[in-house]
Amino acid sequence: MQRSDHPSAKKARGAFFTPPAIADYLASWAVEGDPAAKILDPTCGESVFLRSAGVELRAVGASQATLKDQVFGVDLERESIKRSRGALAREGFDATLLVEDFFDVPTPAQIGCPLPAMDAIIGNPPYVRYQEHAGVARRKSQAAALAQGVRLSGLASSWAALLVHACAFLKQEGRLAMVLPAEMLTVGYAEPIRRWLLRRFEAVHLVMFDRLQFEDASEKVVLLIARGSGGCNAFSLLPVKDASDLASLRLFGPSHYNVAPASEGKWSDLFLTVEQRQIFQRAVSDHCRPLSFYGSTELGTVTGANSFFALSESTRLEFGLSPSQLVRISPPGSKHLKGLSFSKRDWTRLCDFGEAVWLLHPSKTDRSSALRSYLSYGEKLGIPDGYKCRIRKPWWRPQVVAPPDLFFTYMSHRYPRLVRNSARVSFLNSMHGIRLRKDAPKAAASALPLLCLNSITMLGAEIFGRSYGGGILKMEPREAASLPVPGPRALNAAFEVLAPEGRRFDRDLKEGRWVSTIERVDEVLLQRIFGLSTAEADTIREAVVAQRNRRIGKPVGDV
Ligand SMILES: C[S@@+](CC[C@H](N)C(=O)[O-])C[C@H]1O[C@@H](n2cnc3c(N)ncnc32)[C@H](O)[C@@H]1O
Repeated sequence: MQRSDHPSAKKARGAFFTPPAIADYLASWAVEGDPAAKILDPTCGESVFLRSAGVELRAVGASQATLKDQVFGVDLERESIKRSRGALAREGFDATLLVEDFFDVPTPAQIGCPLPAMDAIIGNPPYVRYQEHAGVARRKSQAAALAQGVRLSGLASSWAALLVHACAFLKQEGRLAMVLPAEMLTVGYAEPIRRWLLRRFEAVHLVMFDRLQFEDASEKVVLLIARGSGGCNAFSLLPVKDASDLASLRLFGPSHYNVAPASEGKWSDLFLTVEQRQIFQRAVSDHCRPLSFYGSTELGTVTGANSFFALSESTRLEFGLSPSQLVRISPPGSKHLKGLSFSKRDWTRLCDFGEAVWLLHPSKTDRSSALRSYLSYGEKLGIPDGYKCRIRKPWWRPQVVAPPDLFFTYMSHRYPRLVRNSARVSFLNSMHGIRLRKDAPKAAASALPLLCLNSITMLGAEIFGRSYGGGILKMEPREAASLPVPGPRALNAAFEVLAPEGRRFDRDLKEGRWVSTIERVDEVLLQRIFGLSTAEADTIREAVVAQRNRRIGKPVGDV
């Protein structure tokens, strides 16, 4: 195996190669029957796109001899370019291939550009996350995007700048056909890209797959197909099951629908059908308020080393630490938050089970022998050398957050949960806290955990949250604050009906029977109080399931 083929080397430069069915489809669209078309793949890898483009050009009448001046590829990996040459030769033609960092290639507007202006740009740019896409490479890519009028933040993955820079090589009325990560529709860092697409192109199509398309990458992808110039205010969306559906896909056919996305913010609601979107929007605007209406979202304590700073009862006793040197917390993680509230009894039970229910928080002047011996144990473990501890004075005293009224579990497989903090304990950053406003309705602390288990709020979580590695739904504080929850009138009215059943719900949830709980809440809140018909409530429930399946990579139709 060449060093450049090693999985870690491939991951570092985002080298995941596109399945031929996708490359063929995009290349054939990009050529558009024009035998003179000039086509560029700016990060061509082993040339799956260039092969498809050459074959298509030949099929529409291009002469074999001119393909070298029509098909262009760039890649920073010499070995990939070498293999590309071999692959193209086997197809019987040649292309112009450059071993270069694409960000170093001057654009046609600059002096020294080695490439002509293109009729089409095709390809699959590398997806390298910002943590690894750092230093000079990131600065260079940001500058290239900025030169095209797109300001990207330091959180942008590498594909974003690459896409923008590539379009600097595209003729004004040219065509773009790219494989991009599906997160381009939802993540905050891609917002400048979304706005730019609307400004730059006359028509934008997005092809979305129900199933993952890359065997060796866990990333979900969309196909971005755009053409012309002058801007547009709607996209056409084309949902397909998998790459085998592409052959029969017609970009202006009946299977597409047009959607005008919000001029700002995420596009994740693009996945909804028109009917789902209308029911959702009506219910939200007539009956819901954002969670921020009830209170503020707060971050939990960042200790820098939970395994040291969060202690079990037996560790406390072993070192002779007294409760006054610690504060009670909900233990790290959120698996234990199953019911509607986290009570003193729950805390005691976890304490008895040996969970880390204490957070080290001695007074600054504490010089007790118990503390000294615990700190020297930490020093042996190297705890003070960790980043968070190094920047904290003293290193052993993490900030403590006052007990919030509710916990918000922000990383979830199914949906985020609100749980009342009846134990009045503090918390770590494995969840968010919600502090209710002083004038929030009295019932809010008890009612929100139950009433948020409705399908409108859950669909809101799918739309406003972000899909994280492995399909986990993550909600940052700002996203949690925007979650649509029942407004005060609906909240009070629904809680009056449902409060007497509270114990049963709590038990059911603890035992994992959440579907029946949601059905009952939907029946009372969505149907009786919001006034949705049974068919409308079903439509929203289907939308939640489809969104969730999309997120976790299950077929959309599965229940
Ligand atoms: C996702 S792969 C796609 C390759 C090919 N287009 C395909 O779909 O099979 C991304 C490619 O980009 C290359 N690459 C990464 N950063 C690059 C850069 N700054 N300039 C040129 N190529 C780059 C990698 O070496 C890798 O071959």
